[in-house]
Amino acid sequence: MLFVCLGNICRSPLAQGVFQLRADACGIPVMLDSAGTSAYHVGQSPDPRAVAVARDWGMDITAQRARQLKPSDFLGFDTIYVMDGSNLEDVRQRAPACSMTDVKLVMSLLSEQGHLRDLNVPDPYYGSQREFQEVVVMLNQAALAWAQRWTESDRLTSD
Ligand code: 4NP
Repeated sequence: MLFVCLGNICRSPLAQGVFQLRADACGIPVMLDSAGTSAYHVGQSPDPRAVAVARDWGMDITAQRARQLKPSDFLGFDTIYVMDGSNLEDVRQRAPACSMTDVKLVMSLLSEQGHLRDLNVPDPYYGSQREFQEVVVMLNQAALAWAQRWTESDRLTSD
């Protein structure tokens, strides 16, 4: 799964981190990565505020480096989870006509269970540490829903 936001230094690195945390805890074998629709921060480490919030959650995201979404991502990933409606539009526009990759809002993992109305993970870049904390709380809810669904479907297929 690939997580995509605008800059690839705030939301999608946190998404990669928190989904990896839940995947590890549940023993889910999955390949995770993240990218940005823009090239603004290519090569940079995650924003220090994201690094700090991640650390509070027991995650080390400092090895991640920002990169831009590339055409081969539409071959290499079954699912691209984006953070907001603007990302959704940008990513869908870049998908090659033959792409089989599913492009979805990450918070749709919760709305499928009828829990949520606003499906955007707000951009925290111009916000404070508090906005970053809210981003992780939202992404953790999505990751828990994803892990639960994965575990249930795995149990069903192995029965
Ligand atoms: P992200 O946040 O998309 O969650 O990584 C942003 C990072 C940088 C900018 C905007 C949003 N920027 O305009 O540089």
